[in-house]
Amino acid sequence: MFFDRIEAAPADPILGLTDAFRNDPNPEKINLGVGVYQDDAGKTPVLSCVKDAEKFILDNEQSKSYLPITGLLEFGVLTRALIFGTSSEFVAGGRAVTCHCPGGTGALRIGADFIKQQNVASTIWISDPTWANHYQIATAAGLKYERYPYYDRVTHGLAFEKMLETLDQAQEGDVVLLHACCHNPTGIDPTAEQWEALAQFMAQKKLLPFIDFAYQGFGKGIEEDAIGIRTIAKHCKEFIIASSYSKNLGLYNERVGALTVVSADAETAERVNSQVKIAVRTAISNPPAHGEKIVTTILGNDDLRKKWVEELAAMRGRIHEMRQMLADKLSAAGAGDFSFITEQNGMFSFSGLNKEQVEKLKQNFGIYIVGSGRICVAGINTSNIDKLVSAITAVIKND
Ligand code: LMR
Repeated sequence: MFFDRIEAAPADPILGLTDAFRNDPNPEKINLGVGVYQDDAGKTPVLSCVKDAEKFILDNEQSKSYLPITGLLEFGVLTRALIFGTSSEFVAGGRAVTCHCPGGTGALRIGADFIKQQNVASTIWISDPTWANHYQIATAAGLKYERYPYYDRVTHGLAFEKMLETLDQAQEGDVVLLHACCHNPTGIDPTAEQWEALAQFMAQKKLLPFIDFAYQGFGKGIEEDAIGIRTIAKHCKEFIIASSYSKNLGLYNERVGALTVVSADAETAERVNSQVKIAVRTAISNPPAHGEKIVTTILGNDDLRKKWVEELAAMRGRIHEMRQMLADKLSAAGAGDFSFITEQNGMFSFSGLNKEQVEKLKQNFGIYIVGSGRICVAGINTSNIDKLVSAITAVIKND
């Protein structure tokens, strides 16, 4: 027998919740687990700019032959313009190379594989808490990880001093995984001043920033959410970015992400690119085309891009409204002061609810949130918010 000794793995802490939610017969159930945007009717819509781009692709596509290993060049140019701004030196390439990977996860994994395969580093520092998959990706790539503190439970803010104190123990050449914006799961991001201090610290200590950029446009805005990366770019000559179009273009199941590696000079970038190609080739050979074509069609066309910017602003605005409404209603219900929810960015709110309370919400009310107490605010709507507020109030008061 080959497989009889294999142990059952625990369900994924996030996607496992979606499975459990699907199997729950409770008609009143609410899924606030996975980070997927829903509109006020509880639907995850295909954006109208995406529908338009798909029509264009359907009419104009000439072939389904393979894409280049790193994807279309235009995809890289448009992705870098979004990340760094249209006037950035990185847009045209030079020191920066970009490859299309299947989703933000694919970009993180290819990036981690590249780091390991090229002996760039052996240790990666990951925020505590973080997106649970970060640990698994680092381990699967063969990297050792350490944790740095990030969240201050008392102030519900960033534990910036402690973060730097811990990162001071990192060795020259270690990698530090950062969330560019809308930190998952806390929703707490560094201020502009803290990014500046962090970027200088990373440069001085010769640490390599590896930046997860999955939520551009969901925090304060497309440009505003990029300030962390742009500050790093001012101080650090080399860094890596894993970005994603899953959320901001609603392309979840098309798996469109990008790995961008910035080197100290264009000649090094070329060699880096040749090795990234090997990492992609051995992992997935070459990327899937449909989602990539949607992205290049929208970002490369003024009208479609304008439509996208508006649609993204509407998603961001609805989440902001739900944050405010949740904080106000919890306070009115006597659950306590939840005003910190309105300070957090992006899809998630780190509610402060503990594991037992999270379990009670699931068992007693059919409300699914992540075990850490992370609530996907993007799943709250005007029809389910009152039920959510009374359930949270009940579990807090009965504790
Ligand atoms: C999340 O954190 O919920 C999302 O990034 C979806 C996922 O793959 O976990």
